[in-house]
Amino acid sequence: MDLLKGLNWRYATKKMTGKKIPQNQLDYILEAARLAPSSSGLQPYEIFVISNPSTLKDIRAVGYDQSPITECSHLLVFASWTNYTLEKITRVFDDMMSVRGLPKETMTNYKEIVWGMYEHLSNDWHAQHAAKQAYISFSMAIAAAAELEIDTTPMEGFLPDKVDEILGLGDMGLTSAVILTLGYRDTENDWNVKLKKFRKSKDDILHWID
Ligand SMILES: Cc1cc2nc3c(=O)[nH]c(=O)nc-3n(C[C@H](O)[C@H](O)[C@H](O)COP(=O)(O)O)c2cc1C
Repeated sequence: MDLLKGLNWRYATKKMTGKKIPQNQLDYILEAARLAPSSSGLQPYEIFVISNPSTLKDIRAVGYDQSPITECSHLLVFASWTNYTLEKITRVFDDMMSVRGLPKETMTNYKEIVWGMYEHLSNDWHAQHAAKQAYISFSMAIAAAAELEIDTTPMEGFLPDKVDEILGLGDMGLTSAVILTLGYRDTENDWNVKLKKFRKSKDDILHWID
């Protein structure tokens, strides 16, 4: 399905069937998420791909009992950095230079600029900035799934501190930003499936400055 058709087809699925999605399609969605752009290319997040029934049950219990959390094929937890440090930034830029076959020093000036911007800002600002980057990846995953006609439920309706505890994210310097179920709609039992898609009109959302 092409992207716009997919985006019209998709909706925030409220009831899923539990059917598993094929591994190659899961890989495609995860690759789209991995390829997302991010500020300075830091990708300050990691993605947990969860299908373990007991972990899903635990997350549903701190996710306002939203049933797709246990009815999905896989749950993606986008977990973002709790702060930026010079060491974390250096590691990413060193890897980038290694992949590009360039000396690490190529990035020294830029690294100082980036760290200079973040250094004096609070951990809270860092965490929010990192979470924004995770949302870009989350959005790519939603779009890629729609292209494949795989349903998703984007979710902010969960208790981040509790999900962090369940997955042990704190020790990894991560916190759960947003989660996404992947699976198949239960057409018979999902009250949301037949509702017409609502989006603001182009007039309401677009401002053309020619
Ligand atoms: C960041 C984000 C968080 C959301 N959180 C939830 C949620 O916790 N539970 C839920 O059922 N839907 C959630 N939604 C779904 C939205 O309500 C839905 O995307 C929106 O109403 C547009 O409808 P559509 O996706 O069906 O086209 C969320 C969507 C986004 C993008």
